[in-house]
Amino acid sequence: MLERIKKLAASYREETVTLRRHFHAHPELSWEETATTEKIVETLKGLGYHIVKVGFGGTKSGVVAELKGGHGGKCVALRADIDALPLQEENDVPYKSKAGGVMHACGHDSHAAMLLGAAKILAEIKDELHGTIRLIFQPAEESGLRPGAKIMVEEGVLEGVDVISGLHIWAPEPAGKIVYRSGPFMAAADGWYLTIQGKGGHGSAPEISVDPTIAAANIVLNLQAMMAREVSARETAVLSVGVIKAGDTAFNIIPDTVKMNGTVRTFRPEIQDHVEEALRRTVEGACAMGRCTFNLEYKRFLPATINDHDTTMLLKATCEELFGAENVEESPLIMGSEDFSYFQREIPGAFFFVGGGNPEKGCNSPHHHPKFSVDEDAFPVGVAALAGFAWTWLEKNK
Ligand code: NI
Repeated sequence: MLERIKKLAASYREETVTLRRHFHAHPELSWEETATTEKIVETLKGLGYHIVKVGFGGTKSGVVAELKGGHGGKCVALRADIDALPLQEENDVPYKSKAGGVMHACGHDSHAAMLLGAAKILAEIKDELHGTIRLIFQPAEESGLRPGAKIMVEEGVLEGVDVISGLHIWAPEPAGKIVYRSGPFMAAADGWYLTIQGKGGHGSAPEISVDPTIAAANIVLNLQAMMAREVSARETAVLSVGVIKAGDTAFNIIPDTVKMNGTVRTFRPEIQDHVEEALRRTVEGACAMGRCTFNLEYKRFLPATINDHDTTMLLKATCEELFGAENVEESPLIMGSEDFSYFQREIPGAFFFVGGGNPEKGCNSPHHHPKFSVDEDAFPVGVAALAGFAWTWLEKNK
């Protein structure tokens, strides 16, 4: 069957490319994916899928559809995210974004197209499937404050689902390579927002003001010391300061406040808890020393993406059979984040990458770049991997 799936994926290449280019030309931001959702619904209806629900989080974005196999059995979910980014595209291609300032610069256009390709294969082999396929077209993966996966889980998309898989096209790897990792894969993403309150004054007379920039400077340096001394060298974690704002008027004014924002990326909850506590302690200490007060908000945006071992090994074996072991490789830890983690907190899941890079075709810009593009030759690989995983998992668990 895997051989047949691979052949079908190859024969659907043009359709997958056409769909991807359509989505690429008509990108929509997080929670605004109305036209994208309509196009997906129309395509799924044409393939004979039962549309379970359209619209999530009080919007018209996102769709869940189902296909019952010829035999009863368990339920496999496959997920694609569908949102674009607030970015002006700089690629000169016929299917360039028609929406000013909005671009599919992370490849979610290709995710939607590849999942529709897999949907077509699964519909084709439906009579032989032992179980149910649930397709999740997820809005708002890029929405830090309101992740689509979280909302979809809250609205019940995983009810009755036994296992989930999904992919991300991955520019750093050559087109068509499958990249997997068991256990922790992508980091948890936290954000922190700090305001240090001092007392402004004349730059010539600091003794009658309270200079918050001294506390800020101590915090920047001591946070890195804290990471180096309090997080084991065996762990992987990073803390960065992304914003420091102190005054913006005259050279001789000591500012009243300093604002600082940053991010923390970790893989294990114990480390995440420790860094949050130590960040607060570091800020408290520096502010006490500098006679400042402060306000600190710490937000946990996305949990770490943790792949289930057995599910990942089944995915790996399936991909090796489909594409040869030489095209399947283990990934290092990825410090980026992915809201697929919300599905994996509920049920076992395997998230993986499909290489999409190809410098010869100009596909060598990083994700979220105005010149980001993917090698469309990767699509049959992603399509076959998704459909192949669903088929194999249902066969092994019937
Ligand atoms: Ni992405």
